This record gives sequence, C-alpha cells and structure tokens, in this order.
Amino acid sequence: MLKNDQLDSWDRDNFFHPSTHLAQHARGESPTRVIKTASGVFIEDRDGNRLLDAFAGLYCVNVGYGRSEIADAIADQARELAYYHAYVGHGTEASITLSKMILDRAPKNMSKVYFGLGGSDANETNVKLIWYYNNILGRPEKKKIISRWRGYHGSGLVTGSLTGLELFHKKFDLPLSQVIHTEAPYYYRREDLDQSEEQFVAHCVAELEAQIAREGADTIAAFIGEPILGTGGIVPPPAGYWPAIQAVLKKHDILLVADEVVTGFGRLGSMFGSDHYGLEPDLITIAKGLTSAYAPLSGSIVSDKMWKVLEQGTDENGPIGHGWTYSAHPIGAAAGVANLKLLDDLNLIGNAGDVGAYLQKTMAEALGDHPNVGDIRGEGMLCAVEFVKDRDNRQFFDATDKIGPQVSAKLLEQSKVIARAMPQGDILGFAPPFCLSRVEADTVVEATQRAVTAVLG
Ligand SMILES: Cc1ncc(COP(=O)(O)O)c(C=O)c1O
Repeated sequence: MLKNDQLDSWDRDNFFHPSTHLAQHARGESPTRVIKTASGVFIEDRDGNRLLDAFAGLYCVNVGYGRSEIADAIADQARELAYYHAYVGHGTEASITLSKMILDRAPKNMSKVYFGLGGSDANETNVKLIWYYNNILGRPEKKKIISRWRGYHGSGLVTGSLTGLELFHKKFDLPLSQVIHTEAPYYYRREDLDQSEEQFVAHCVAELEAQIAREGADTIAAFIGEPILGTGGIVPPPAGYWPAIQAVLKKHDILLVADEVVTGFGRLGSMFGSDHYGLEPDLITIAKGLTSAYAPLSGSIVSDKMWKVLEQGTDENGPIGHGWTYSAHPIGAAAGVANLKLLDDLNLIGNAGDVGAYLQKTMAEALGDHPNVGDIRGEGMLCAVEFVKDRDNRQFFDATDKIGPQVSAKLLEQSKVIARAMPQGDILGFAPPFCLSRVEADTVVEATQRAVTAVLG
C-alpha cells in the first residue's frame, strides 16, 4: 500500500499532540510517528518498522495488541446498540455485566462502580464524591486532599493538582488550593542516605502526621496514592509503608483513594494493587487495564462505607448531580467484559507475575553492575532502571543531560524496542503487555544493555 506522504505535513499543521514539545514538533525536530497496526507485543508504523512495545502504549494494552475477541465484542456491540446513556437507571447488558465482573474481582468491602472514560475523569469523580460525602456527613470543612509528590493522577484541574510532578503544574496555576502534597515513598531518593528502609517509612509517616497537625485533621478529607508509584518513577513502596500510612489515616478519619489506573486488573501479578499491598481503600480508581485500552473506559469503585452515605445524600437532596454523556458507554463496557474474560482464559495475570519477575531479574543481572545504574526495581510487569552520575555517592545527572531520554531514543534506534523515559529523573520504565514471553523479555534486556553501553559506555 502506498503511504500517504501528506500525513506528515497534515500532522504538523493540524494536530495538537498531548504531552509534546509543541514548538519542536511544529518545526519538524521530532518525528511524526504514524502507527498503523499491531499484534501481540509489537506495533508497526506506516514505514514498516516493527517495534517491540515494552510500555504497552501508556501501560494500558495489557492483554497485548490485536485480540480479535475484544475487537469482535466491540463490533457486535456497535451493531446491536452503539449507544444509550446510563442516566436515571438505564443500563445495557454489557455495562451491568461488567459492573458485576468488577465487583467480583475487587478487594473486599466495595459496593458499586461508577463508569467514566479515562483515569483523569475517574479521579475527578472521586474528589466530587469525597466532597459530597463530607457535606452529607455535616462536615463541610473536611475537604482537602493529600497526594504524594511524584504521584500521577491525571491532568485535569483537580487531577493535575493531585499529580505531584512539576511539569503538570508549571504555568497552569496548579495545584489548586484544595490539594496538598506529602513525601513520596521513594526510598532510593531519600534525603538522608544513612536511613534504613524502616527509618525512611517512619520519616514518611512523621511528615504526614506533621502535615495533618499543621492543617488540622478536620480539614482533610482524603489521601490518594497509587499502590506503587507509576509515572513518578515506577517505585514500589518501602516495606511497611502502606500499613503505617493507613494507620494514620484511620486515626484521623481520612478516606483512602487507591489509584489503580495502572495496577488494576493484573499489572502487579495480582488482580488489584490494593490486595497486593494490603490497602483497604474507600475508593478505587480504575481505567487502562479495564479494557486494555481497546476502548476508553474508567471507573470509580465505591466502598460500602461511602455508598451508604451517598444513598442517604440522594434521599435528602435528590438525584446525584454527576454524570457524563458517555458514562458506561456500551462499546467500552463490551470491550471491558471481553478483556476481563481474556485475562482469565489465558491466565495473563499469572504470566504478568512470572515473566515480570524474570524481566526484572535478568535486567538486574545485565545492568546491576554498571557504574551509572543506581537502582533496578519493579513489581509484576513493571520494571525501572534509574541512571546516576556516580553510584557510590548517589549523585544524579543534571536534568539537562537528558540521560533517560537519550537511552530510550537509542533503544528505539538500535533495537526497535520502546521503553519510556519517565518524566522526572533519569529513569527508564518498562511496562510490557502481560503476554510478553521470556524470549521477548530477553530481547528487551539485551537491547537495553546495548543502549546503555552506547550512551554511557
Ligand atoms: C495512576 C494513574 N492515574 C490516573 C491516570 C490518568 O488517566 P488518563 O490519562 O486516562 O486520564 C494515569 C495515567 O497514566 C495514571 O497512571
């Protein structure tokens, strides 16, 4: 098939790309990559380049590309009923079935799922539900949300505020005043190098306690966190972190939102990150892995405790004034049903745990002794390599050296493997589809080793 040579100029002339250096792109300094097709862990661009996608899109194509079971479910749903809304008690077979499938898999004490389109709007829903909840309980002052530096929770107004990354605040007048941030549970980047993991957890807890004391517990509604930091650097929590944090939240009657947009439905090798780390959330955010990105769909899973209050609220105030036209869109829901079934049928979550552990182990064997590799970490099908200038003194590179982006660019150029240069720090992130084989994991590791050698020697 002839390639459409106008696409490149049409792209630069018309398309406003998210998370892109707009000026460089407009000037043609960064490539327009037109992706055409994909299968398994490989994507193919219109020039015929076949790339191993070791980040599953944006860690979302969990079952892998080209799954006809999901494509057929979407097509069947579009033919039978492309759309009907979910307001005032309406549903479809797909949306009702999916809500049951989600609750069947969810951690204990969860009650209902509210459907949205993406992770950002689901977190927006969460914040509104938290505010509504405290208003119904007669505590209108209890509204602030604590998030962590390096957390990622979306890029809307309130969700961009929850996100604790500089790039998402700078020049956008964020964070909003209702959102405050606390220490990231990032042991490798602890300030005091002499601290043990246990001492560092105690430090995170003390910081949180001090913040609550400063602000007043009666002003703080909730704490939001990813079970494992994702976009902030792929950082598993230090041992004992979640139990210690939860104890503080319980003491001050502060709700816990587990943002499982990345971890939900298997990325850690278990169904939910909350179960993996023993979290008992009041709300759970889900998106990406719910449909493996075959169609946009997200959700807020609401606990029994909050649900009772929401019901009480509507008895007192009438129907809940919150809804999107596309809440529980039938096509997204049909994709979700087919996706969750596929995860079970092919034991993909088991594979994510097994091959993910293999990927991390082989990555550590290949790069663990490199003088510019400071840390190799991960959990399930998530892995990160952090680069440092001087590993003995844990001295970081200057951000302007762009070591992370250089390594990921080299990986692509040399070996046609996609890994993500995480946005803050020189961290190369891997989050392949769950169907990654050991042979493909070997390819990723060997390619990474070559790229690291090419950039850093
Ligand atoms: C943990 C987490 N929460 C929320 C979001 C936002 O999701 P979306 O980009 O679908 O709005 C993301 C996206 O990467 C995420 O990783």
